[in-house]
Amino acid sequence: MTHSQEETREAAGGVVVATHALPEPSLSTLEPDFEVRVLTIRPSEAQLAAEVADADALITLVSDPVTETVLAAGKKLKIVGQYGVGVDNIDRAAAASRGILVTNTPNALTDATADMTLALLLALARRIVEGDRLVRSGSFSGWEPDLLLGSDLKGKTFGVLGPGRIGRAVTRRARAFGMTVIACGRSPRDEGDPDDPPRVSFDELLRRSDVVSIHLPLNEETRHLFNAETFAKMKAGSWLLNTSRGAIVEEAALARALAMGPLAGAGLDVYENEPAVGAALLDSDRVVLMPHAGSATHETRREMARMVVEDVRRVLSGEKPLRAVPPESGRERLRAEL
Ligand code: DGY
Repeated sequence: MTHSQEETREAAGGVVVATHALPEPSLSTLEPDFEVRVLTIRPSEAQLAAEVADADALITLVSDPVTETVLAAGKKLKIVGQYGVGVDNIDRAAAASRGILVTNTPNALTDATADMTLALLLALARRIVEGDRLVRSGSFSGWEPDLLLGSDLKGKTFGVLGPGRIGRAVTRRARAFGMTVIACGRSPRDEGDPDDPPRVSFDELLRRSDVVSIHLPLNEETRHLFNAETFAKMKAGSWLLNTSRGAIVEEAALARALAMGPLAGAGLDVYENEPAVGAALLDSDRVVLMPHAGSATHETRREMARMVVEDVRRVLSGEKPLRAVPPESGRERLRAEL
């Protein structure tokens, strides 16, 4: 580093701790002006608290425990920049009480997550994973009239739980496959937005939908929203898709609903106790499982990295961030309104 770079860095006076390397160009663009430290471990709460002791900014993944303890340890922290859209791993009330801003990366991952939702549905409906296994095992012995029969999507009813950005992007895709989309959410339908599906009550959505797709944030209102009682209201032979947060679904109840009905299958990208996945799900042929990869495309992850670094730079330079997350959003009261 040259003398003048050293001076600029000192002038900015910032230490940026990132819990993981990000797709470049991102963290490297901060290096001329800030001291950037990238962790090489998946930090526990205690490790993260130790790492943030002298940090001005913390860049986190959705799996990092940004608890009150961590935030209290970050005496100089001005911003927690989340590389992701969900912020349920961050104690936002504790951040707000210390004047620490929280930012995230909305919009960037809308299409990738919607694509993953439909990919899971197609994999279930057309038995893609089973077919792949069959061919690889050498058991494919030629075309047969009833080999791996699946289901048409056309004509089915698709229920969107949480018709926000991702829910609407999923709506566009579901309609393109000939499905009728209904939705349940906090806000009334935006009549000016053709992608915003008509609203029904939560119970009606469960009763009518051949496919229920979850697009809600995780909070105390939505944790275990899908439990034995909820599953009992779902249509016989329906599918559940979850690309939002695993803990919205009680995994033991899901396993029972798959084994005993009413569910025909589930497409999951997220899990209640991530990264652990219950044995009942791992053993079930009725589920398609992905490792929390909804936003995992090169393009999306690059854009997420650009966004998080942009807001860190802004805050450390005394500017307002572009994507501040409010301490508590109205969406968190959603369950009460379902
Ligand atoms: C998010 O951003 O919330 C996803 O779960 C990870 O991309």
